Parts: sequence; C-alpha cells; structure tokens
Amino acid sequence: MRLQDKVALITGAGSGIGRETTLLFAAESAKIVVVDVNDDAGRETVQMVEEQGGQAAYVHADISKAADCETMVRVAEETYGKLNVLFNNAGISHANDDDAVATDEDVWDLTMAINLKGVFLGCKYGIPALRRAGGGSIINTASFVALLGAATPQIAYTASKGGVLSMTRELAAIHARENIRVNALCPGPLHTELLMKYLNTEEKKQRRLVHIPMGRFGQAKEIAQAVLFLASDESSFVTGSTFTVDGGITAAYVTPE
Ligand SMILES: NC(=O)c1ccc[n+]([C@@H]2O[C@H](COP(=O)([O-])OP(=O)(O)OC[C@H]3O[C@@H](n4cnc5c(N)ncnc54)[C@H](O)[C@@H]3O)[C@@H](O)[C@H]2O)c1
Repeated sequence: MRLQDKVALITGAGSGIGRETTLLFAAESAKIVVVDVNDDAGRETVQMVEEQGGQAAYVHADISKAADCETMVRVAEETYGKLNVLFNNAGISHANDDDAVATDEDVWDLTMAINLKGVFLGCKYGIPALRRAGGGSIINTASFVALLGAATPQIAYTASKGGVLSMTRELAAIHARENIRVNALCPGPLHTELLMKYLNTEEKKQRRLVHIPMGRFGQAKEIAQAVLFLASDESSFVTGSTFTVDGGITAAYVTPE
C-alpha cells in the first residue's frame, strides 16, 4: 500500500479531483480528512470511502476563512493523531469571470479569496502540523492556465492559479530542509463539473479540444494518480515542481487534425 500509515487532508473532496483522489488514497490505506463547503457532497465522499472499506472523516471548512482552515487541521490531528499529506485542491471557476474589462471586482475578490488565499491558509495552518509529524507532502492544485494564456478569458481564475504556482515554488524552497515537499499540480482541461459548466456549449468544448494533442478532456481519476505519486514517498526527491498532467496541451503549438 502506497500510503500506509499516512493521514491526508483533501480540500474540495466533495467532487471532481478531490473526490477521486480521496477514493484512491483510501484504497492505498491512507486515512483522509474530507474538507468541503458542500456538506452533502463531502459526506457522500466519506460514505463512498467507507463502502470500499477505508477510513475518512468529514469537516466543513471554507478555505477562504482562516478559522475554518485552523479547524480542519486541528480535526485531522485530533481524529487521526497527525497530518502527513495536505492536498490544497478546492477552487472555483466563477461564471462571470471574463476579461479584465468585463469582470467585476467582487468576482475577482471571491476567486482570489478561495483559489489563492485558500492555498495560503491551508499552508499557514497545515505546515505546523506537518512539522509535528516530522515532515510531509503538500500538493497545491494550480492549472495549465498558469502556464499558457487562453483566448477564452477567465482573468481572475488564471491570475489566481499563477499565484498558486509561484507560491508553491517559494514554499518548496523555504521548507525543503524540514522534510516538507511542496509541488504544484497543473491539470489540463478535465471532464468535471467545474469545467463543463464553463464550456457549456459544443462550440466552446470544441474550441478547447482543438488544442489538446490527445483530442479529449482528461478524467479526474487520471489527476488522482499524479497526486498519489506526489503524496507518496515514491516522489521523495520531487519538490517545487510544476507537475503537468494535461494530455500534451502545454507541449503543442499545433495539434494533429
Ligand atoms: N476541472 C478542470 O478542468 C480543472 C483543470 C485545472 C485545474 N482545476 C482545478 O482543480 C481543482 C478541483 O477542480 P474540480 O474540477 O475537481 O472542481 P469541482 O467543482 O468538481 O470540485 C471542487 C470542490 O471544491 C469545493 N469548494 C468550493 N469552494 C470551496 C471553499 N471555499 N472551501 C472548501 N471547498 C470548496 C466545492 O464544493 C467542490 O466540491 C480546482 O482548484 C480547479 O481550479 C480543474
């Protein structure tokens, strides 16, 4: 088992990447603290883990709030005795996030509060717990849009993910000698609710697919496999990396017909 004796905290674990990662981590023997703002979805993930014979506990926490982040880490330590893996994954893609001219300030502020400040707060309260455990692994979900400009604009989302990427590099450098590894995950476009709500017409979907050499959207399960590697001791010399799982989108200038 690749996560034997590890305790992991996963934000946004009620859906998409977070849920699939929770299920995979549980299958690899980790104990998981499932964090979300959607209580029904979070509890359903816990139930799914229990049905496959694993161990998980749900905590309601809004990652944009410091007190909630402090609580989620405390619950992890109280419930399972320690914290080894922190997956700062929750994020939003706001329906009214557009170009700089069209995007309202409140959309920008909310996106930054969840996608960027949420990762900072996860680290602020999570790192002391990882230190108490003798080290650990942090995985921060950025996106391929932190690496490439898209002509379908989402200015706040893109800027927030760029922040996650650069913050991750600095965290990795600062905490490397404490045996804490920090990596950024850059998923390509996935067939999840978050993206399909945004690419809500066939034309928008095709406009995105044309850039992906593999010619398809990724699955949340395929991202979970990458997170498992970064969380496990198999990636013991990997820190500060931009871990791209994108069907080749960032490697291609022109894709095959
Ligand atoms: N889907 C994609 O194509 C894609 C691509 C690149 C990066 N990402 C990133 O991956 C991460 C997960 O995306 P997903 O596709 O699984 O999304 P999703 O919408 O399926 O799941 C996100 C989860 O986060 C929760 N959440 C939202 N705001 C929260 C908050 N303030 N506090 C705690 N939980 C909160 C939601 O309730 C939801 O359960 C996000 O950071 C997203 O930006 C997604």
